[in-house]
Amino acid sequence: MASFEAEGRADLMARFCGPLPVAVIAGILGVSPTDAGRFGEWADDAARLLMSGHLPTDAWVRAAESFVTMQHHLAGLLSARRTAPADDLLSVLVQAATDPSGQLDMAKAVSYATAFVFAGHKTTTDLLGNAVHLLLLHPDTLAALVRDPSLAAAVVEETLRRDCPVPGTSRVANVDVAIGGVMIPKGARVFVLLGSANHDEAVVEAPSRFEPGRPDGGEHLGFGRGVHFCLGAPLARLQGRVALSVLTQRLQGLRLASDRPVQFRQVTMFRGPVSLDVAWDVEVQGSSA
Ligand code: HEM
Repeated sequence: MASFEAEGRADLMARFCGPLPVAVIAGILGVSPTDAGRFGEWADDAARLLMSGHLPTDAWVRAAESFVTMQHHLAGLLSARRTAPADDLLSVLVQAATDPSGQLDMAKAVSYATAFVFAGHKTTTDLLGNAVHLLLLHPDTLAALVRDPSLAAAVVEETLRRDCPVPGTSRVANVDVAIGGVMIPKGARVFVLLGSANHDEAVVEAPSRFEPGRPDGGEHLGFGRGVHFCLGAPLARLQGRVALSVLTQRLQGLRLASDRPVQFRQVTMFRGPVSLDVAWDVEVQGSSA
């Protein structure tokens, strides 16, 4: 039996899934593979600013420092793209932040690039963590996925509905508006619970049930709705499908290694397990989706 406990608390997401989303988004941005690891560390540190409820002061300071270091590094890469554009997202962001007179708004370019690093990293890692957790709680579904890896797409969709990685977002009311009998005044900030909408009994039958392929699950709000609908949805779906197929093919006999309840991060904006203790019987090398 192999277990992450036995291997000294290496983490499933870090070993199989954590490096994947950051390497993918770094590649799309045009960050070199050697730099991608540093981006992962900065982004992990900086994510604590957004994702941790309570931290000791020195951890807040380290998170803030990592955030600023990453932004300076991105500014350097963006400046380089200005003089030597490449076929990558950083070069596109330089164009998007340059006005018709040729003036580059560096703050805007850095903020776009930072948004992509965050939006394309932790969310996808949490999608994988939540999906694996749900599969481990539903061994019949896991066995069906092992038999037929094409079910991974349905598992990704049902995870986005049942345990969405971004359960909440915020909006500011442009006008006075009444919703469900409550008057929301113009200018009010509203915290919108996408995760709650995904469990609306009026839309989804027995919403807590994890049922990939269910007929009423397709209208979920896991990627938001409207003009701000997630730009990275196709990429996240692809990464989820590939990672789940490969993981479940390679780690045969995958199961939870302890009865301890899985801890989720104590924040309302993002949902994902802090860690998963798992065990498996055999690791098959070289299988791919
Ligand atoms: C499972 C993974 C992901 C989830 C659950 C997710 C979820 C979301 C949600 C709910 C929104 C809407 C926020 C709002 O309306 O306030 C959003 C927006 C966005 N996402 Fe994702 N996302 C994921 C992956 C990605 C990836 C991989 C990228 C980039 C490659 C990305 C880039 C963005 C961007 C740029 C926006 C802002 C769009 C806008 O404001 O017009 N996301 N995402």
